[in-house]
Amino acid sequence: MNLTTPEMNARTLKADAAAIAAAARALAQGDLVAFPTETVYGLGADATSATAVAKLYAAKGRPSFNPLIAHVLDLAAAEGLAQFNALARALAQAFWPGPLTLVLPKAPACAVAELATAGLDTIALRVPAHHVARDLLAAFGRPIVAPSANRSGHVSPTTAAHVIDDLGDRVALVLDGGPTPVGIESAIVACRDDAATLLRPGGVARDAIEQVLKRPLASATLTARGDAPLAPGMLASHYAPHARLRLNATSVNAGEALLAFGPMLAEGADTAARVLNLSAQGDLVEAAANLFAHLRALDATGCAAIAVMPVPAHGLGEAINDRLARAAAPRA
Ligand code: TXA
Ligand code: MG
Repeated sequence: MNLTTPEMNARTLKADAAAIAAAARALAQGDLVAFPTETVYGLGADATSATAVAKLYAAKGRPSFNPLIAHVLDLAAAEGLAQFNALARALAQAFWPGPLTLVLPKAPACAVAELATAGLDTIALRVPAHHVARDLLAAFGRPIVAPSANRSGHVSPTTAAHVIDDLGDRVALVLDGGPTPVGIESAIVACRDDAATLLRPGGVARDAIEQVLKRPLASATLTARGDAPLAPGMLASHYAPHARLRLNATSVNAGEALLAFGPMLAEGADTAARVLNLSAQGDLVEAAANLFAHLRALDATGCAAIAVMPVPAHGLGEAINDRLARAAAPRA
């Protein structure tokens, strides 16, 4: 498949009604469309078309064992694709539409292409809250699979420009809906039998989920089916910028850029190649929204390393620290 033919060159359109209608037509033709969700930009394909899904894997450069999230408009649509137990329904009612993905047993009549779920007997489902994502789902009328719209291994895109940087020649159309408000991917919770497991910390904090469950979430990593990670995309080195990341830095070394957090900058901040603050007020919601854009901007300075100040672990801090740890992990 040649992905760099001129007709594949991306067009960025302001996400108005005409652009959304054009995007729905492109999806129906099996083309790829990038669109904003409240978390990050997604690279969308018709979930029911194996050909469109294959095109999507090729564009991402994603290992094909890594399954995709199917996005739907509401719980009723989700119930056609997966089996909901009481826990799953409670979570859906509490957090949908919003930044929570549920991994559930596939429904027998699930219309999503096998390739999208990578042969698993479960499916990841999400009802996004962003009005552009919702309008696109309504116009298209079928589920849309959408990984974050970055090449595999790169940080997730929170603006249309990030999508163009990473995938510009591989996507038919980019709907520009401005910067994404949450800024970090959805939390992923698997509901199996009577257990709910946090597979990926994300845009809904653990304690908010546990309040609905009225019990602690089980912790992730090992599956019922052997050694494969439950969320196969949670490879250690995932959100990797070119620069090395030095975490929990309290001072800046020569040649480093600084990713700051809070009102008090690390020692030597004035010598940093560049300083960007996730949140000068120390607000974790603001920090999540800024995380990926700031990582990209600091990486773009060409610095060899980025010193990252400590970020508290509570609330959205769990997801932020998870992404930072992956970005800092040694590369394969
Ligand atoms: O916020 C988000 O979730 C964004 C926006 C675009 O919706 N999407 C996103 O998709 O982050 P992606 O593909 O980058 O990450 C989805 C994660 C991967 O780690 C994948 O392995 C996991 O979900 N996943 C998908 N289906 C699964 C399944 N059946 N069981 C376990 N993990 C699954
Ligand atoms: Mg991703």
